[in-house]
Amino acid sequence: MTTAATALPLLSLRITAGPVELRGITDDLLGPIADLALDIHDPDFMPFFGPWSLSPSRDMARVVAQYYWGLRASFSQDKWNADFAVFYEGELVGCQGFSTRDYLILRSGETGSWLARKFQGKGIGTAMRQVICAFLVDHVDAKHITSAAFADNPASLAVSRKTGYTDNGSEPFNRMGKLATLRRIALDPANLVRYQHELTVAGLPEFRTSIGLD
Ligand SMILES: CC(C)(COP(=O)(O)OP(=O)(O)OC[C@H]1O[C@@H](n2cnc3c(N)ncnc32)[C@H](O)[C@@H]1OP(=O)(O)O)[C@@H](O)C(=O)NCCC(=O)NCCS
Repeated sequence: MTTAATALPLLSLRITAGPVELRGITDDLLGPIADLALDIHDPDFMPFFGPWSLSPSRDMARVVAQYYWGLRASFSQDKWNADFAVFYEGELVGCQGFSTRDYLILRSGETGSWLARKFQGKGIGTAMRQVICAFLVDHVDAKHITSAAFADNPASLAVSRKTGYTDNGSEPFNRMGKLATLRRIALDPANLVRYQHELTVAGLPEFRTSIGLD
């Protein structure tokens, strides 16, 4: 039967590793993701490039849905994002993303992630990053993975370090009208620290075809 996942195989991609499951973001997950996004960090701290996470609660569902709908609408082999809802022991906890440009040439892209505050500091952020990086390296032929975090975000930088990323420079950044330092980090697949559980991937052949690999 033809479904939305026929049009966009990312929607039915599922990566499972022990208690961690990454699922393509279908419409039924947008509301629950928006609910979680209402409490990611203190209002006086901004871990993201843009302040979407400070959206008023009445706007959050629209902000979240439009973001993912926009990524779906612009998905192409030249520029695609693979964003996942993250489940831990069956409970939705946050999101993990990977964004690319010219992937067929570069085999490179950037990871980004967040957890609702109540799920932070329990090792889940490290687990989900190790899982997506293993997926990218082992199943999608990634050769170079980057990420970035503000210098005042030690949890994100620690997750990167624990996944095998190393420093790749820093730059000034205009964060909500104030100077911040953005630290760039990069992962050579040879340095990947793997999660303790093996990955199982459902929907891979269709996804690989959709990004032009097969
Ligand atoms: C960043 C984030 C995804 C990390 O996930 P997490 O589950 O909280 O992280 P983990 O529990 O796996 O690991 C956090 C590590 O950071 C370390 N850490 C946390 N706060 C720290 C601090 N203030 N100083 C030094 N290290 C710190 C922890 O000690 C831990 O390392 P350890 O296990 O070696 O002790 C999560 O905290 C989050 O969503 N934060 C808000 C959004 C965000 O910052 N997203 C990333 C944008 S770049």
